[in-house]
Amino acid sequence: LGHAVSKNMLRWPHPRKRLRSEEAPLAGSEKAAFGDVHIFLVERKMGRSRRSFLTQLARSKGFVVEDVLSDAVTHVVSEDGEASSLWAWLKDHSRSDLSRMHVLDISWFTDSMKEKRPVAVETKHLIQDVLPEVSTPTSAAAVSQYACQRRTTTENHNKNLTDAFEVLAENYEFNGMEGQCLAFRRAASVLKSLSWEVRSSERVHELPCLGETMEELILQYGRSFEVNKILSDERYQTLKLFTSVFGVGLKTAEKWYRRGLRTFPDVLEEPSIHLNRMQQSGFLHYGDISRAVSKAEAQALGSIIDEAVHAITPDGTLTLTGGFRRGKDFGHDVDFIVTTPERGQEERLLTSIIQHLKQQGILLFSDYQSSSFDMSKLPSHRFEAMDHFAKCFLILRLEGREVEGGLCRAEGDSRDWRAVRVDLVSPPPDRFAFTLLGWTGSRFERDLRRFARLERRMLLDNHALFDKTKKEFLAATTEKDIFAHLGLEYIEPWQRNA
Ligand code: CTP
Ligand code: MN
Ligand code: MN
Repeated sequence: LGHAVSKNMLRWPHPRKRLRSEEAPLAGSEKAAFGDVHIFLVERKMGRSRRSFLTQLARSKGFVVEDVLSDAVTHVVSEDGEASSLWAWLKDHSRSDLSRMHVLDISWFTDSMKEKRPVAVETKHLIQDVLPEVSTPTSAAAVSQYACQRRTTTENHNKNLTDAFEVLAENYEFNGMEGQCLAFRRAASVLKSLSWEVRSSERVHELPCLGETMEELILQYGRSFEVNKILSDERYQTLKLFTSVFGVGLKTAEKWYRRGLRTFPDVLEEPSIHLNRMQQSGFLHYGDISRAVSKAEAQALGSIIDEAVHAITPDGTLTLTGGFRRGKDFGHDVDFIVTTPERGQEERLLTSIIQHLKQQGILLFSDYQSSSFDMSKLPSHRFEAMDHFAKCFLILRLEGREVEGGLCRAEGDSRDWRAVRVDLVSPPPDRFAFTLLGWTGSRFERDLRRFARLERRMLLDNHALFDKTKKEFLAATTEKDIFAHLGLEYIEPWQRNA
C-alpha cells in the first residue's frame, strides 16, 4: 500500500520555481549582448497595428525582433496585464521551453528603446507565471473545459455550490434527462477545480461549462430554492434511498417506487418482490456498507488482501486504486488491482484470492465476473461503462484489531467488526496502466476519453489507447505514457478529484 498519500503530497499548488530574475546584465560585451537578444512582441491586447509599429521602431534601432515565438526568442514582451491568461496563451502557442525566455512587460521594451540598447532585466519588468503547470488559474478564462486539463484536489472552495449542482444533476438523472444531468455534472466539476470561491458574475461568465441557467443559480440563489424543493421531494428521496442499497440500480428503484413502496420495510415485507443475491447482502449489511470506509480501514484491507496475493504467488502485486488513490480520506468502498506477470494467469489469481478470503472466514459476499477481454475486438467505438477484465465485487468482514486506531463504528455499536465493500480487478500485465488510469477515476477519466476522441482522434478506455490517424494501438506501461501519448501534462492521482 505504498500509494497512501501523505498530507504533504496533498498540499498543492506547489509554489512554482521563480523565473530567472535580477540577473547580471547579459554576458559578454555590450555589442554581442545586443545581437543575442531576440524579441517577440505578443499581439494579444497590444493589437496588430501597434505591434507592427513597435516592431519597425525596434528594428530601426538595430534590435532583432522575431515574428514567431520560436526557440530563438529570448525576450517575450507583452502589454497584457493579466499574467495568468498571458501565460496560458504562451503555453498554448509555444512549443519551446518558456523557462528559458524572459517574459516581460512593455516597460522593459520602452526603457530599451529610450536607452537604444536592451536594458538589464529587472524584477519590475517580469511578468511572473502565477500558474502551476496547467491550471488552478486565477483567471476564469484560463480554465479548460476538460477535467483532464485541470488539477482538482480534494479541497473544494465551492462546496455549497457543487453540492447543490450535484443534487440537481442527480434529479435530472432520476428523471431520465441525461443531457441536463451531464451539463450540471460538468459545471460542478469545473467549480471543484477552482482555487477561489465563485462570487462575482464576471468570473462565472467566463468559466467553461457554466451556462446562463447555472450562472443565475449561483448568483441569485446559491443553494437555491429549487434544490430545497428537490431535497424534500418524495420521489427524489425514495429513489435516493433505494439506490443506496448495494445491488439496487435506478431501474429497480423506480419499479419499487411505482408500486407505491417508500421504505425498506415496505420492500422487505412485500411478498411479490424477489431480491437477488447482491440485494439480499446489500440489505443485510446495509448499516455497515452505507457508512464511509476510513483510510485506516482501507489500509488494513490492503494488508489482508496483499497477504492473500502473496500466499498464492510471490510475483503477484496489489495496487490501491479508486478514491483512496486520489487521496480521499473516506470512500464508499476500497478498490484494488491485482496482477501477476504470468500472462493468462490473472483470472486464476483472482479466483484463488476469493478462495483464500473464504477460507479465512472473512468473505461475506462475492460476485465474481470472469474475463471477457479480447484484444482482437478492440478498439471499441461504443462507450462502455464497464471493462472486460476479470473482477469481483466483495463484502468482507474486517476485524477491529486489524485497524490502526480502530473501526469506524456507528454510535451504540459494540461489535468489534464491520462489513466493508471491496472491488478487485485483474487485467493482463500489459493492460495495467490503462486499468489503473480508469479505476483511479473519478469523472476525470470520462473527460480524458472525450479529450482523446475530440482533440486527438484517439480512442481511450480501460483496455487500450488507439490512434485513429495512425490506425495503431499505443503501448503504455505507466499512466505517464498515456498522458504523453495524448499530449497532456501529467496530472497526479490526487489532482484527479474532478
Ligand atoms: N470503475 C470502472 N469499471 C468498473 C467499476 C469501476 O472503470 N467496473 C471505475 C469507476 O469509473 C471509478 C473507479 O473505478 O472511476 C472507482 O469506482 P468507485 O469505487 O465507484 O468510485 P470511487 O471514485 O472509488 O469513489 P468512492 O471513494 O466513493 O469509492
Ligand atoms: Mn471506490
Ligand atoms: Mn469501487
